[in-house]
Amino acid sequence: MRTHVIDHPLVDHKLTTLRDERTDSPTFRRLTDELVTLLAYEATRDVRVEATSITTPVSPTAGVKLATPKPLVVPILRAGLGMLDGMVRLLPTAEVGFLGMVRNEETLEASTYAERLPDDLSGRQCYVLDPMLATGGTLAAAIRFLTDRGADHITAICLLAAPEGCARLEQELADLDVPVTIVTAAMDERLNDKGYIVPGLGDAGDRLYGVVH
Ligand code: URA
Repeated sequence: MRTHVIDHPLVDHKLTTLRDERTDSPTFRRLTDELVTLLAYEATRDVRVEATSITTPVSPTAGVKLATPKPLVVPILRAGLGMLDGMVRLLPTAEVGFLGMVRNEETLEASTYAERLPDDLSGRQCYVLDPMLATGGTLAAAIRFLTDRGADHITAICLLAAPEGCARLEQELADLDVPVTIVTAAMDERLNDKGYIVPGLGDAGDRLYGVVH
């Protein structure tokens, strides 16, 4: 597994406002969108392309286009939805599948409650959107889900990551024969006893969409 922490002043600037508890939901959504587009630029460095030829107004020339099968973008519901627009802005022809996963707040284990994905993901590059890589349980389960269906290249885009989550992913995916890359805006200090990232930004779903009672 490769972990890529983006080092860019604009990313740091947007992330600082995102973390601030005074930032309201509309601003939080806009900043998430902008941040994801910046992360996606780096995360798609290995996206597969194939040769094509076109004609400019001046002459024929060679170029590239996204290879088929098209990449698949997979937001993990609910908070991953807040990252979808920013991602597909960069990859407008990608297909989108949905994975609903919820974390049990006592055991911190993830379970799948919804999925809308092709049965066969053979040869697909998948871009998983999950804002908070905290314990790593949700992301590990999502990655297994996709590779069990044949995905052969996984990139997870996370706003924030915790060292504990990255260590767990390394451990749980050690036997996986598929390249996995994590792209994140920051590697934070640690998790607290409730499994929240410290300093973090709080509950990403609540900050995007409000608290569900
Ligand atoms: N999920 C969140 O939304 N925030 C955290 O800090 C950890 C998990």
